[in-house]
Formats: sequence, C-alpha cells, structure tokens
Amino acid sequence: MAVSFEGKVAIVTGAGAGLGRCHALEFARRGAKVVVNDLGGSMDGSGGSSEAAQKVVREIEALGGQAIANGASVADEAGAQSIVDDAIRAFGTVDILVNNAGVLRDKSYRKLTLADLRLVVDVHLLGSAYVTKAAWPIMLDKGYGRIVMTTSSSGLYGNFGQSNYGAAKLGLVGLMNTLKLEGSRNNVHVNTIAPIAATRMTEGLGIPAAVFDRLKPELVTPAVMFLASEQAPTGTIIEAGAGYFAKVQIVEAKGVKLGDGATAEQVEAHWEQIIDMSEAVPMSQGSDVTRKIFT
Ligand code: NAI
Repeated sequence: MAVSFEGKVAIVTGAGAGLGRCHALEFARRGAKVVVNDLGGSMDGSGGSSEAAQKVVREIEALGGQAIANGASVADEAGAQSIVDDAIRAFGTVDILVNNAGVLRDKSYRKLTLADLRLVVDVHLLGSAYVTKAAWPIMLDKGYGRIVMTTSSSGLYGNFGQSNYGAAKLGLVGLMNTLKLEGSRNNVHVNTIAPIAATRMTEGLGIPAAVFDRLKPELVTPAVMFLASEQAPTGTIIEAGAGYFAKVQIVEAKGVKLGDGATAEQVEAHWEQIIDMSEAVPMSQGSDVTRKIFT
C-alpha cells in the first residue's frame, strides 16, 4: 500500500540538517505540508538562526511542495508551543510530529557537568515532551495523530561517554510507552525510531570511511515515513541504518516465584532461572507485570 501524506500536515523538529532534513523532504515529496523547525545552532547546542530551516523550506518549494520555517528551540516551552501554533496558522492543523531535534555533550560521567546533563535532557527529552504536549490535544480532539520519537542505540544499550544523551534518549521510550496507551482510543499512534546515520553528529566518532559512506540518512527516512503513516503501528521501536530495519523491544524473563519467604540466598540459588531469557515475553503495559505475578 502506498505511503501517502496527501492532505496531511507534518512537523519535523531539528529539520535544518541531517536526518530531520531528509524526513522533511520525503514528507513533502509524498504530499505533506511541512513545518521545518530548526534552531540552527552548533552540535553542542550553542548559537542559532532560522537560516537552516529556511534553506530546507526553499528545497521543498523547489520540489513543488509546501513548507514553512520555524526557528524556535524545542527546549523552550514557548518555542515548542510556537512550532505547533505556526502549523495551525499556516496549514490549519497538525497530523504528524517527528521529534528529531538533538544535541550532544559527550563526556565520561566523572567529567560531565550538571549543565551538560541538563542541556541534553532539556533538548531531547523535555524538548520532545513539550512539542508533543502542544500537539497532543489537537490530535486527540481530531481523532488522528502520528508521533515519532527519536531514540538511540546509546540509550537502548549504552555508549561510553554518553550518559546524559543515553538517559534522555531512553526517557523518550518511556514517554512513548504511556502515550501509546493514552492515544490509542483516539487513533493517535506513537512510535520510536533508533537511527544510525552519517551526519555531523556521528562524523567525529571514528567510524571507518567505508562504513560512514553507507550510512546515508536517506536510508533511515523510509522507516520514519512508515511509522508516521496511516498504516503505522503504535508503541513500536525500529532501529534503522544503511538499509537495515529491525524492531527493538524490552522483554521480561519467565522468572521464578519465590513467595513470601524470599531471601537473598534464595535469589542467589535461583539466579540461573531468574535470568533465563529463553521464555521472555514483552509486556503491553506496566500492570501486566503485577498480573503475571498474581496469576
Ligand atoms: P544533526 O546535528 O545533523 O541534526 C540535529 C538538528 O537538530 C540540527 O539541525 C540542530 O540545529 C537541531 N537542533 C538542535 N537543538 C535544537 C533545539 N533545541 N531546537 C530545535 N532544533 C535543534 O544530527 P542528526 O544525526 O541528524 O540527529 C537527528 C536525531 O537523530 C537526533 O535526535 C539524534 O540524537 C538522533 N540520532 C542520530 C544518530 C545518528 O547516527 N546520526 C544515532 C541515534 C540517534
């Protein structure tokens, strides 16, 4: 089935460069009217101008598409609201939101300052939460919405020197896990992309040139298009890079019920059973765990 965004309004944050730019261009190619948000700052979050967003708007217009630029920071509450307000003012509504904007302040945890921690959490986790908060009632009221969060393998699995980033990125999975429940009755679906792509964010990481060249950001965008489409699932994490696409899921082992008399020694004695993942299953919501324990 064709993935079309004809008649849809899509917001992409951090769309002045890298992955966000690719997503914005592809939404436009597939018929969406696009709000291109970008603060236009440097990778560590300093500086800013709306020129980056305006440049992508011009690219979309050159394709015959419709787009507007927004130069606000997602980490600013009023700025985040302005992104959704601009969508309403220019195009009347919002159907799709891709929370993509991001910065890095990589340091080992010993060297990380609390300012580095706060900035990264502010942009990735709170920034995504703020823009989502502004779009959420509109989507619920109209009975349609598609939101894509952007996580990272650094959050899902860890990466040396990225404690701030990893914490913020996995926080987005937590946000999705509850919003998927709160949105489902109103046809608002929330999914997450875990991209791997050659952008300015990854160019200093020492990835071999032959690999870096294959990690085209355009090869992440197809997964984002599907996760933002009418056919999209909800609550799904997809890892995507260089043409590879795979679902990621948190699962829980079968476990063991030691009962009221459980002791530390019994935990030790049953350790192999406790950590045996051969019969692990996913949980659709937190209360599933309580149900599992008591049935
Ligand atoms: P990028 O640095 O090329 O793009 C990020 C964009 O976000 C920039 O244009 C920047 O100006 C904008 N931005 C930063 N702070 C902002 C703010 N407060 N408000 C609005 N815009 C802001 O990096 P890339 O690689 O395209 O990253 C896009 C997303 O994908 C980020 O969330 C990143 O963490 C995530 N990601 C990227 C991976 C990769 O391999 N490139 C891996 C995993 C996650």
